[in-house]
Amino acid sequence: MKKDKINAAKELYKQLRHLSWNELWSEKVPAYNAADAVTRASQAALVRAVGVVFFESGPAGLRTEVTAWLRQQLRDPDEKIRRYAMAALPKTGAEQADEEALIGLLENSNPPEREKKYLSRALDKIGGKATLEVIDKLSSQTAMKVKAGIAREDSPAEILLESLVPEFTELPIHLRCRRGLEVFVRNELESSPQASALFSIHSTHPGLVKLYPRAAFRFRDILSLRCFATFSLVLGTLPAAEPEAVAALVAAPRTRDLLHALTHGTSRYRLEWIGQGHRRGWVREVAQRAFELCPKILNDARHAPWAIEVYSAAGRFSVELRPRLSPDPRFAYRRRDVPAASHPPLAACLARLAGNSGHDLVWDPFCGSGLELIERARLGGVTRIFGSDLSAEALEIARSNFAAADLGISPTFQKCDFREARFEPGSLSQILTNPPMGRRVPIPNLPDLIRDLFAISARLLRPGGCLVFANPLPIKNTNPMLRLHSSQRIDMGGFDCMVECHIKQKR
Ligand SMILES: C[S@@+](CC[C@H](N)C(=O)[O-])C[C@H]1O[C@@H](n2cnc3c(N)ncnc32)[C@H](O)[C@@H]1O
Repeated sequence: MKKDKINAAKELYKQLRHLSWNELWSEKVPAYNAADAVTRASQAALVRAVGVVFFESGPAGLRTEVTAWLRQQLRDPDEKIRRYAMAALPKTGAEQADEEALIGLLENSNPPEREKKYLSRALDKIGGKATLEVIDKLSSQTAMKVKAGIAREDSPAEILLESLVPEFTELPIHLRCRRGLEVFVRNELESSPQASALFSIHSTHPGLVKLYPRAAFRFRDILSLRCFATFSLVLGTLPAAEPEAVAALVAAPRTRDLLHALTHGTSRYRLEWIGQGHRRGWVREVAQRAFELCPKILNDARHAPWAIEVYSAAGRFSVELRPRLSPDPRFAYRRRDVPAASHPPLAACLARLAGNSGHDLVWDPFCGSGLELIERARLGGVTRIFGSDLSAEALEIARSNFAAADLGISPTFQKCDFREARFEPGSLSQILTNPPMGRRVPIPNLPDLIRDLFAISARLLRPGGCLVFANPLPIKNTNPMLRLHSSQRIDMGGFDCMVECHIKQKR
């Protein structure tokens, strides 16, 4: 009998949930309002459906009215109706009056455990300062979520790039990059006197360079390097990602000190077990335990300035603290993008591979938004910069990015197929490009495009000049005037390509 009732309620919800907002609000709700208590209880699913359908397609102008109706349902004698109203309120954009109504229920009606759980969940989402007053009546999870929500609204936290990192001895730093680029990351650090004075390389792994600080440093010092994608501080390694052990690292005094010294505002972090999907239960358990151990550090998936991430490698689990720097301050000049824009650290790697031979004349035949050219210009030793692209819009974007980079150099752009760009044979010292790869934007004949790139480079480069590019195809150069100098397999985010450097021969 009970089962039949549950099935009928489910069936009713399914039907209501697929009605239009108009049908629901103008027909079903008035009929429900006019019904007696027993009929209303049998139609509790309507309250649930109103929340969901309003969230998906309800008119913003009705928000106050719908919320007020739901708030009224909070006072219904039927427990199920009250619970559904609690779940629906956050979906309709609850107001202060709703928070007060929920707190009122908590304080005055001594609700049963199940209803308390729903109340807690609703307050997780909409609770503000008033909820803090009754926080000891709620779960620690709700306490943390409410505190995080208030902190998020009060002060959008910021990572302090210029502050000294405390307790830096024995603090491993991981520079992560796309697989294959670690050689560039390592080489960039080794060739920077400032960075080498501050950091020593411990080891290199696919997609990762591990460092140790030699001296006190700031995040800004790490960000002087451009070839890595993200960096993190290793809080510790564990034999297993047990929630209790991970929470102990998250809440450890050193983590607290790091967050305190390096955050302006409240320390909020997003937690993720990398490569393991959402793992909601695990995240909840770790976050809750960490909050119990250290209530100053708040887990918050939304706009948190920090990420705490667990990586597995070689049978161990590394727990890492990563500043979520978005936009990346190293590439702040990227005002706009093209559809297949380069990954900025890849552009930095390509530019470093081309190097600075002094008085360079550099051309990017497929310049898009201009990242490779900007990264090359930043290295200095450039006399002229040329970019070409089929797309006028891309060239406009490259122009504005160049202006934002403020390098004191004005590039010359040509809107044309790269085969038609005008240069004197033997006049260029570097051809540097991330060509179209046919993945995000289809390219009619990619093999011919790569073959033509070799042929044109052999003609336009001066002896000793180089062609540096990411080759997406296993096509080799056959022109004897170009010789392959180096090649490195890299992960382009789902497929591999070769980063190649070819040198123009003297004769
Ligand atoms: C991979 S994107 C370049 C991305 C660029 N490095 C950036 O950072 O934005 C390739 C570019 O090549 C251009 N393109 C495609 N075929 C071309 C051709 N035959 N000649 C010149 N440009 C071409 C596209 O319009 C696109 O902007």
